[in-house]
Amino acid sequence: MRILLTGAAGFIGFHTATALLARGDEVVGLDNMSPYYDPKLKKDRLQYLQGKKGFTFMEGDIRDRATVKKAMEGCDRVCHLAALAGVRYAFDHPDEYIAINITGFFNVLDEVRLQKIPGLIYASSSSVYGGNTTFPSKETDRTDDPISLYGQNKKDNELLAHTYHRLYGTHVTGLRFFTVYGPWGRPDMALFLFTESLLHDRPLTIFGHGKMQRDFTYVDDIVSGIVATIDKNCEEEVFNLGCGKTEELMDYVRMIEAACGKEAKKEFLPMQPGDTTKSAADITKARTMLGFDPQTTIKDGVPKFVEWYRGYYKI
Ligand SMILES: NC(=O)c1ccc[n+]([C@@H]2O[C@H](COP(=O)([O-])OP(=O)(O)OC[C@H]3O[C@@H](n4cnc5c(N)ncnc54)[C@H](O)[C@@H]3O)[C@@H](O)[C@H]2O)c1
Repeated sequence: MRILLTGAAGFIGFHTATALLARGDEVVGLDNMSPYYDPKLKKDRLQYLQGKKGFTFMEGDIRDRATVKKAMEGCDRVCHLAALAGVRYAFDHPDEYIAINITGFFNVLDEVRLQKIPGLIYASSSSVYGGNTTFPSKETDRTDDPISLYGQNKKDNELLAHTYHRLYGTHVTGLRFFTVYGPWGRPDMALFLFTESLLHDRPLTIFGHGKMQRDFTYVDDIVSGIVATIDKNCEEEVFNLGCGKTEELMDYVRMIEAACGKEAKKEFLPMQPGDTTKSAADITKARTMLGFDPQTTIKDGVPKFVEWYRGYYKI
């Protein structure tokens, strides 16, 4: 298949591209190399992909309709991962979130309709579960109580996709990812920040007084779910993609300490606006319909990240 992958220079996009190319798909990567975090990491991911057969790259912005149109021509699927992905940055930059995560999403979806692309697979998030207090979260749970602008954006994407399916029959699958981690991970996420602080002998800043719980999902497991969804091309679905196992944040910290071979100094701070105390995925639907079967626990996954980090930054 020829697949347009938006956000190809991003963390999950890079791993998705690698898996699709390895099985012989053609990947058109589109990314604007956003400076939200160090673009050098994005350039290095791209450099790795550019050596692979079947990969072409367009530097461009999903806010620009002509760019989206051109990138999509002749594709069998669109896998839309480009977004501003941080919950906290949205607090002071709401305009950018609306322009990229909503108008940008609309550009992709509407172009899928006009070009009659057989299927759109797009990244949603566990953030759509917002202020819910019952766990684990199921796809049928309420998602009308966002506690962050980012969560609102993702819910908005799901509603728009649903409406397009109703009106135009567009095939749309939304994937609610739960805290994804692994090698080449994002510098704004806890695993990266904690590892960086620990290896530079700086104290770890731990929000929520360390009482948070998360369903941490290893990136290879997420990619297997994305690839299965691309192949299945459902008419209209939303799936939780998580590990299906909820961990205490402090256990995650202990894994990082073990992998780094050091104990961290820790500063405990209150919850940040937009953060949830807990995430937990019910993955029964993805297991049943996609054969989704996550393999990696934090015990195996965290050391793989630390090993990558040490190699990449030569520490
Ligand atoms: N990583 C997670 O834990 C997680 C959890 C839930 C959902 N998601 C979603 O998964 C997707 C991928 O996330 P990620 O962790 O790989 O993030 P990422 O920031 O590493 O990747 C996103 C990519 O999109 C690109 N991008 C941003 N704005 C763009 C624009 N206007 N035009 C073109 N490209 C643009 C960025 O340059 C970046 O390379 C996002 O939609 C995110 O919201 C991620």
